[in-house]
Amino acid sequence: MSERSYCVTLTVNGLERTGNCSARTSLVDFLRETLRLTGTHVGCEHGICGACSIMLDGRPVRSCLMFAVQADGHSLTTVEGLSQPDGQMSILQDSFCETHGLQCGYCTPGMLIAAQALLDRNPNPDEHTIRDAIGGNLCRCTGYQQIVDAIQLAASRLAADRPAANQPAANQPARAQSAPAGTTGHDKASHRS
Ligand code: FES
Ligand code: FES
Repeated sequence: MSERSYCVTLTVNGLERTGNCSARTSLVDFLRETLRLTGTHVGCEHGICGACSIMLDGRPVRSCLMFAVQADGHSLTTVEGLSQPDGQMSILQDSFCETHGLQCGYCTPGMLIAAQALLDRNPNPDEHTIRDAIGGNLCRCTGYQQIVDAIQLAASRLAADRPAANQPAANQPARAQSAPAGTTGHDKASHRS
């Protein structure tokens, strides 16, 4: 008996996208194989590594832990959506290059999503806050310090770009956010040196 197919419509990086999948298709497989958005990586497929991180309605989640049908009607941002509209790298992406915040690059899409989600809610994070924000994302190459440096550099560059009146007070969250239980992996061990 053939498996039933479901039509899923969601907004990805500002564009409405539609595709068919089975009830058990994971969101990361739907993004990569149906929508051909292969920037989001697949690692452990168990919610451990963070390589599959995306933003769902502005909050970082692990797309290997969701079924695509659960994302129907929601708004997603993948790593492809972080670059500027003309395709240039964002300040955050450029900062990763600048500080050598990647080597093999396998963790990088998830790290960028975690970092962007952090900077969206806290434009001026201290090192402890940064390490906590990326604590659920594993990197086998960098030792994490260059990634922390990249996020700090991006925060300082973004602050320099902001009008003085919009500068946040030090370490004050811009807005509180919480992620769905079981999808962020932020309860995993942090990478504190
Ligand atoms: S692939 Fe590792 S957390 Fe999703
Ligand atoms: S750069 Fe290789 S896993 Fe992070």
